Amino acid sequence: MRVLIIGSINIDDVFAVGQFVRPGETISCRSYARHVGGKGDNQAMALARAGAEVYFAGKIGEDGRFILDALAGAGVDTSRVAVSGIPTGRAIIQVQDDGQNCILLAPGANKDIRPADIDSFLEGWGSGDMVVFQNEISSMDYALAEAGRRGLTIVLNPSPVTESLLSLPVGRADWLILNETEGQALTDSSDVESIAGLLRGKFPATEIVLTLGDQGVRYEGRNGSSLQVPALKVKVVDTTAAGDCFTGFFLADILEGKDVLTALTTATRAAAICVGRPGAQPSIPTRAEVETFDPEDR
Ligand code: RIB
Repeated sequence: MRVLIIGSINIDDVFAVGQFVRPGETISCRSYARHVGGKGDNQAMALARAGAEVYFAGKIGEDGRFILDALAGAGVDTSRVAVSGIPTGRAIIQVQDDGQNCILLAPGANKDIRPADIDSFLEGWGSGDMVVFQNEISSMDYALAEAGRRGLTIVLNPSPVTESLLSLPVGRADWLILNETEGQALTDSSDVESIAGLLRGKFPATEIVLTLGDQGVRYEGRNGSSLQVPALKVKVVDTTAAGDCFTGFFLADILEGKDVLTALTTATRAAAICVGRPGAQPSIPTRAEVETFDPEDR
């Protein structure tokens, strides 16, 4: 099965701070770095580093052409990336000493994706193929409907939470991979314990993978089965892109025909490595690193 990511590309400006800047405050950061990011691009990179055959579609501005080299260098097919008259998406990311982050987005070219772009991205894709979406581009409604009409296996990572997320046809997804914040938004519940069950009831035809931070990850199968895999205890440096890394490695195993428990375990290990390193894309490990990873060493 081939996999196509239709998603965002950002240039990430990352500021390491003791504590997030507060209203009215001006602070100097401890360090600054610029990386390639965006949830779509990060997930494509994670899938590639996990060994999958990956195709990526999205939109950049003229200022983002250099990003294509990084993706192509990792073996990702970028022939479906279009260039917009609008600049590439930007993310201003603050990372605190405890590894938590907050992200301010200027969506740029990611929000210049129109139904006609989706048609051209999906040309030649259909039944037997997988498509992966996040919630950081425009025309999501159309994209989900069109991917469904063409018979692709649809994976949705409904991140970040936006107002428009609540009106998306989420139930069209074959796989929903989400964290507890996204789960709370989709179920209108703040009770973490009940989110998985509420999602199961709301999206009966969808396989649900709910990540719960240091509580691990929960799987609710459409056949009624459920699994829980605990998180690994590691020192957290920067949680940025941990969810993207998890998604990429999980799907790479599923695409290889591995069972869900194996895929959850692989993805948990990959995310544990990712949070131990700074940056979004630079922190995503290779398959070899995940296989030899020993959390006791951290
Ligand atoms: O998930 C992490 C990503 O979110 C960052 O790379 C940033 O670009 C934002 O899209």
